[in-house]
Formats: sequence, C-alpha cells, structure tokens
Amino acid sequence: MKKDYGKYFRRPSQQAARKRVNPSTETIDFDVNPNIENLGNGKYYMIQTYGCQGNEADSETMHGIFRALGFTSTDDAQSADVIILNTCAIRENAENRVFGELGRLKQYKKTNPNLLLGVAGCMPQEEHVVDTLLEKYPYVDLIFGTHNIHQLPAYIETAMLAKERVIEVYSEEGAIIENLPKARVYSHKAFVNIMYGCDEFCTYCVVPYTRGKERSRAKVHIVEEVRQLVKEGYKEVTLLGQNVNAYGQDLPDVETFAALLDAVADTNIARIRFTTSHPRDFDQATIDVIAKRDNIMPHIHLPVQSGNNDVLKKMNRKYTRESYLSLIEMMRKSMPDLSLTTDLIVGFPKETDTAFEDTLTLVEAAQFEGAFTFIFSAREGTPAARYEDTVSHEAKRDRLKRLNKVVNTGYLRGHKRFEGQVVKVLVDGESKNDSSMLSGYTEHHKLVNFKGAHDLIGKIVPVFIEEAKTWSMRGVLYENT
Ligand code: SAH
Ligand code: SF4
Ligand code: F3S
Repeated sequence: MKKDYGKYFRRPSQQAARKRVNPSTETIDFDVNPNIENLGNGKYYMIQTYGCQGNEADSETMHGIFRALGFTSTDDAQSADVIILNTCAIRENAENRVFGELGRLKQYKKTNPNLLLGVAGCMPQEEHVVDTLLEKYPYVDLIFGTHNIHQLPAYIETAMLAKERVIEVYSEEGAIIENLPKARVYSHKAFVNIMYGCDEFCTYCVVPYTRGKERSRAKVHIVEEVRQLVKEGYKEVTLLGQNVNAYGQDLPDVETFAALLDAVADTNIARIRFTTSHPRDFDQATIDVIAKRDNIMPHIHLPVQSGNNDVLKKMNRKYTRESYLSLIEMMRKSMPDLSLTTDLIVGFPKETDTAFEDTLTLVEAAQFEGAFTFIFSAREGTPAARYEDTVSHEAKRDRLKRLNKVVNTGYLRGHKRFEGQVVKVLVDGESKNDSSMLSGYTEHHKLVNFKGAHDLIGKIVPVFIEEAKTWSMRGVLYENT
C-alpha cells in the first residue's frame, strides 16, 4: 500500500489512541524552516471549520502557519490553491457534511489541477475515515490529524513541490507545542488553550480517541499568552479544554483550575470565560474564585447529558442527578445571578420513556438558560456503539422535540430577567440578520442587538434592554448623560 504514497504515510489506530501511557510533560517550540518562508507568495488558501471551539482554535493556528509561509486567505474556493477542511467527528451528521463538501469541492480540481485539497482535525483520527478517504476520495491530497498540525509547513512543501500525497496521522499525542503562530478571527476576543485531550472516556464520545491524553499547558505559558493579549487590546479570553476542571492534575507540579483562574484574573483582562466544565471535577475552590473575581464571567456551561441515573452510569459520567443538582445549588449560593447552560443527549441506547422524563424534570429543576441538545449518534470504536439500541428513530426525534420545547422556555426566561436593565455588551460586529444593527454578548453570555456606530466594535458598552426574545435581546445604547 505504502508505495503509492510519498514519504508520509501513517494511518491512525483508535486502539492505540485509547492507551494512556506516560504523561508527556515535554514542551517544544514551533519554528518555520526559513527555506520555505516564501512558499505561499502569490498563492491563496482557504480553511473551513466544522467543530468545537478547540477545533476553531486549531484553525486559527493553521491560518497562522499559512500566513507564516506567505499565503493569503480567501473565502472563494475557485481562487484557492489550498483548501483544508478542519473536521469534527462528534456525531455522524458532522462527518456526512464533510464527505458531501469533498464531493462538491472536487469540481475545482478540474479548473485548477494544482489545487491541493486537505482533510484535517478529528475525522482523520478515526481509521475508518482514513480508509474511506483512501478508497473513495483519491483526489484528497493532504490528510493529517489533531496531533501534527505543527508539521503543516513540511506537508504543504511536500504536496506542493514534490507533488506527493501526504497521509500522516499520529494516534498518540506528542509534546505540547508552544509558540505556534495564530491568526485570530477577532481582535477583541480570543481562545486560549489551557489543556489538550480528554481522559474521561464517556462511553458515547470519540474525543478521547481523536484528541488523546489529557495534557495541561504550564500555567506560566497560559498567563503569559493572556498578558500579551491584554497588551494587544483584547477584552475577553475563553480558556479552552474538554474538561477544564481537571486542569493541572497531570503537571509535574500539580496545579488547580481555581489557581489558574485566579492567576488569569490577575492579568486584569476585562472578561474571562472557560469551557467545557465537567460536573464531577467542579470544586468549591473554583466556585469561590469565580464568585470573588469580577472579571470572571457569571456564566457556566455545565453539560449534564441526562437526568437519569441509569443512563448517566451507562454514559460513564461519574455523577448522579442528585450530585449534579447539589453542585449547582452550591454555585447559586455563591453566585445568585449565575447563568447556567448545558448539553443534553436523547436516545442513548435503551433510554426508556421514564428515563427521558427524568431529563425533562432535571431541565426544569436546574433552570438552565440554554442547552445544546443532541440525538445520540453511535461512534465507531466507542463502547456505546456496541450497546443494543432499542429506541426507534421516531421516538428519538420526538424526545428531541419535546426537550427543545422545555429548553427554549429556559432561553426566554434567561433573557426576560434582563428586560428593563442596563447590561454590559462586548460588541462583536454587525448583527447577522440586520446590518444596520450591532451585536455582542453580555457578561451572562446573552446575545444583544442594538443600533450603534461601527467604532463601538471591540468595546464594552452599556445597553438598555427593551425586549427579550427566545434567541436574543434587543436594546438601545445607554447614554448616562
Ligand atoms: N468535553 C465536553 C464537550 C464534548 S462534545 C463535555 O464533556 O461536556 C460536546 C457535546 O456533544 C457533549 O457534551 C455531548 O452532549 C455531545 N456528544 C458527544 N458525543 C456524542 C454522541 N456520540 N452522540 C450525540 N451527542 C454527543
Ligand atoms: Fe467527551 Fe466526556 Fe471527554 Fe467531554 S468529558 S470530551 S463528553 S469523553
Ligand atoms: Fe468535534 Fe473534535 Fe471538537 S470531534 S467536538 S472537533 S474535539
């Protein structure tokens, strides 16, 4: 098989990815070989992002690498010399969208035979995906995964100059790479990775296989990155990890998420957010820091997945309905105006009607102000994919519909409580649906639309809320004169 390919050929193995071997505490610095610094001069690249915020952050790194090689970005597939799809494997429909898009992009290779088409991110970490790409999508030139983005310069050089296909996916994580270039989407808010990977192994989830072992970045590196962002005028950072509450447990000198939050708050950045939290690892010390520090935002995204203890057990979530509810009670005791959002899965194998009802009652009891809701999707290689699935497709769709109805009343309730109040909005830009309006998020992470001049973009401004709707709030700039 290998002889068909160039110097790079490595398929992933989910079996190998499952292993949790010696913790890697090594950190290496990224460097571009000066010989290829001009590789992209006069050439265009395009990146499409399909996944979570971690995936978006990886796209920002790829943008940074392309620019370091002299490439210019484009949104137009027709004029691109390189197109990379940065993919997500979390559910089947995410994967199907990527295969569909690859079929569509094929046409551009006819008009531009030198066009390089690449698939990156979480999908290539699955062996069945790489096999499908090799068999059915022979026109894909570059395949690489989540552990080797830093090799992108060498891959582009090989594909572009030596005209060789590059298929290289590492199954296991290596060292943490520091100083990767980043071209950030916004100049006022930024993602900051605090850790990579996940060790939780929820039985439905592919992430521990696609992202590898939990590895925390050193606290000094994180704080330094935030300090630099403050210097550049950034107003908000979102600290990223699959389970941020486990931050630092793997470091040689053990650190805690609470201490990290405190240190990041000391940089005096205006706003700090973090995602995602795991209910089992959320401790009182972390609650105390969030409550105490004004620049840590009063919004917590705390995925619960299900309100039924049997289902939670089969999901390997390691908490119960009762312990989840008492955790959020602790949170609300310290932060009475907290906004709480969550993730929910319906139709987990053998989820009974009563089990589903437990999820509905939990959503009511927890008073969520928003939720991402999903139908269970069997992911190859995960334990739950082998569980007997007795719930019909219709029942799953029906449960999702009923759940969304309850969730949507939570969104509206979360907005209603700000009607008639002045809130602080970090202005992102023009409103998506109406270019005469601006939009941005409040401290509680509520979307606000209001009229204002473009020079407010990137600033934090007071807005009086006139009307709460389900998905957003409408307000007017508050002039206190
Ligand atoms: N690390 C985070 C988020 C992981 S992925 C956490 O632990 O909460 C985001 C969400 O996708 C999950 O919270 C879960 O609700 C959903 N999800 C993950 N795997 C899924 C699957 N196989 N089918 C349906 N939804 C899934
Ligand atoms: Fe997946 Fe669970 Fe890890 Fe979240 S905590 S990424 S759901 S395995
Ligand atoms: Fe998707 Fe990978 Fe994120 S599977 S949700 S892009 S970690």
